[in-house]
Amino acid sequence: MTQRTPLVAANWKMNGSKALVAEMTTLLTRADLQGIDVLLCPPATLLPLFTQAEKLALGGQNLSQFQAGAYTGELSASLLQQAGASYVLVGHSERRTLFAEDDELLLAKVQQAVSTGLTPVFCVGENLQQRQQEKTTEVLAKQLAAVYASHPELLAKSVIAYEPVWAIGTGEAATPEQAQQAHAAIRQQLARYDATAASKVRILYGGSVNAGNAGALFSEADIDGGLVGGASLKPAEFLEICLRAKD
Ligand code: PGA
Repeated sequence: MTQRTPLVAANWKMNGSKALVAEMTTLLTRADLQGIDVLLCPPATLLPLFTQAEKLALGGQNLSQFQAGAYTGELSASLLQQAGASYVLVGHSERRTLFAEDDELLLAKVQQAVSTGLTPVFCVGENLQQRQQEKTTEVLAKQLAAVYASHPELLAKSVIAYEPVWAIGTGEAATPEQAQQAHAAIRQQLARYDATAASKVRILYGGSVNAGNAGALFSEADIDGGLVGGASLKPAEFLEICLRAKD
């Protein structure tokens, strides 16, 4: 039993096309998605093409820590919002690893999102070595503390995504038990900063979610939906995943 509305989010990464926007919009707008929130995070240039998608929320995959100015190539929270976004991913492991985004920068990005009215989907997760060394809880705690220990007021405005790095794009999802254990640890950690917000915050699981494993993952007590990469590029499968969150 959860009083939290499930959220299923698509992270297209640097993939997709105008044709995929049209295909996805057609399929999802015809489906009965009552009772769940569906969020699409395509590359930002595609956001304005979702013109017939009132039932769907849109999000960016990254944002600048700055409000505006001489930052060639960057996108501000406000620009994303004007393109149709109401959410934005922050701290995806690919940003942390490939673009060296650190705790301090990610705090600034979450603050920038919230102050502009975008809901940050703050991503945390351990890598394989950290899991093998049984440091998962410690790593998650540090990543969460970097934002919410000093700024607990940001929690009520956030969504959290637990994405174990070893499960992203590998076809090897965490088991429902592994994921539930991490989600419970995340909620417990967040309760130290704001107990009410921690009980209400949606915690999504991400990492090789597909139509086959989504149902079991989403039925766990602290798993409030998913952040879906590869499978979100296949409209029929993504719809299946969304519908699993209704069960
Ligand atoms: P995946 O990606 O579903 O392809 O594993 C998830 C993500 O990176 O958000």
